[in-house]
Amino acid sequence: MKKMIVPVVLSALAFSTPSYASHPMCGKTELADLMGDMKGSMKAVKKAVKSGDIEKVSMIANELMTAVNQSTDLVPLAISDQKTLTAKQQADFKKYQKGMEYLKSAVSELAQAKDLPAIKSALGKIGKASKKGHKAFKMDCDD
Ligand code: HEM
Repeated sequence: MKKMIVPVVLSALAFSTPSYASHPMCGKTELADLMGDMKGSMKAVKKAVKSGDIEKVSMIANELMTAVNQSTDLVPLAISDQKTLTAKQQADFKKYQKGMEYLKSAVSELAQAKDLPAIKSALGKIGKASKKGHKAFKMDCDD
């Protein structure tokens, strides 16, 4: 019987979505602040797209890039709240930074987009980057 239970428990652990107990700093980090700014920029981008103002989209994309660049150097709370990282945390942080590099390339595409299809394609990539990044590295705050 025991032989049956161990694989079941192991596979349950392997396939469960990461859930972290919340943290007193959850949603209050420098990274969370920057992400909040990025959310504001994305809202402004969508508004500019609706009014067909391609130049404005490009302007906002460049602002967004500054926040993305700053975010790349900050360790997500779900990885660590300490300055010194263990080897495993360093490896996770590298993966996070890879996700941010992908986001950077999509934001740069958005800044250079000259027509609506190019804008839509860049926005699709940004959405994908954020969904994947949040699933892997964003802690769910309790409140
Ligand atoms: C333009 C794209 C993105 C937008 C608009 C965005 C937006 C947000 C928002 C609104 C939050 C919650 C902030 C709060 O609690 O006040 C957040 C948190 C977070 N996001 Fe993003 N995000 C984006 C892309 C990404 C990507 C690509 C990654 C990872 C590769 C990522 C990783 C995180 C992490 C780790 C947190 C939690 C902050 C912490 O650890 O303190 N985000 N994001």
